[in-house]
Amino acid sequence: MLIDNHGRNINYLRFAVTDRCNLRCFYCMPEDGLNWLSRKELMSYEEMLHTCSLLVKMGIQKIRITGGEPFVRKDIMTLLTSISQLDGLQDLSITTNGVLTAPYVPELKKIGIRSVNLSLDTLDANRFFTITRRDEFANVMAALEALLHHDIEVKINAVVMDGKNTQDIIPLVEMTKDLPVSVRFIEEMPFNGDGHIYTGLQWDYVRILDEIKNKYPQIQKLTDAAYSTSYNYQIPGHKGTIGIIAAYSRTFCGTCNRIRITPQGELKTCLYDDGGLNIKDLIRNGASDDELRSVLLDAFGNRAADGWEAEKSRVVHPGLHESMASIGG
Ligand code: 5AD
Ligand code: SF4
Repeated sequence: MLIDNHGRNINYLRFAVTDRCNLRCFYCMPEDGLNWLSRKELMSYEEMLHTCSLLVKMGIQKIRITGGEPFVRKDIMTLLTSISQLDGLQDLSITTNGVLTAPYVPELKKIGIRSVNLSLDTLDANRFFTITRRDEFANVMAALEALLHHDIEVKINAVVMDGKNTQDIIPLVEMTKDLPVSVRFIEEMPFNGDGHIYTGLQWDYVRILDEIKNKYPQIQKLTDAAYSTSYNYQIPGHKGTIGIIAAYSRTFCGTCNRIRITPQGELKTCLYDDGGLNIKDLIRNGASDDELRSVLLDAFGNRAADGWEAEKSRVVHPGLHESMASIGG
């Protein structure tokens, strides 16, 4: 078991396989994209597999593949298939925007993917275009349908943005009436690659819940799983559930079980820290597994208590200027 310096069990790795994306979501990056990493700066599949294998041996039980958009990276199924075969890994999942996902769904099912997080901030095609700056709504809905058809659990990620999609909160909640999905509303964070100026959180988890309660006073609280980052609810009679993620308010750090690896191979022991340990560079410089294990354990033993402390300790980018695509969503 991996236990950090605050007594938290680390068993969950979020691995970002590319910073590139085929959408340009307003809350994540500027309209003309980011200064994309070159191929050499990215971790190779071999390096990723090596890192995952080592971390699984050390105690990681669950891996989520994120990006950028994972399906824009060439031959992603090769990587997913090899990770899915790692001995000791209990759960492999993916976060995707759904644009290219539908055709891969049968294969995802075959390699044992049980759950997929799908980014979908609105059910209105025009607003989808305004938010993502791409006309891909139909493909995302096709991905949703394919996932449900193959009995893969779907969590829908919707970032709540003042003046952009708050009128979508209730329609998204209504999806849970007939569909067995978990719709999760996420507080907007400043990680937008300086695409727009973050003027502070307008819709925090309390306000989001109030909005839903106003329409559905009968909403019931569910028991949250031990390491859950979401407060979970259900409307009696609905097939699906609702989650609210206080991503900016950071109410869940006390039970944080997760670490991240960015597309360029940096370890982040908190979403709000500025990285520092580059695993890819260590591997390329010939570090042995014992050496890697030792620097990783050192990093796990020096985690910030919470996202506020991590933010305060940043030196590389004071302020939170990165994009979620370069951190790993
Ligand atoms: N604030 C909150 N969530 C974000 N995501 C991306 N950028 C932000 C942001 N600035 C989330 C989206 C997406 C996941 C990959 O990361 O919900 O589903
Ligand atoms: Fe974990 Fe940091 Fe997120 Fe808190 S803010 S849950 S410590 S990654």
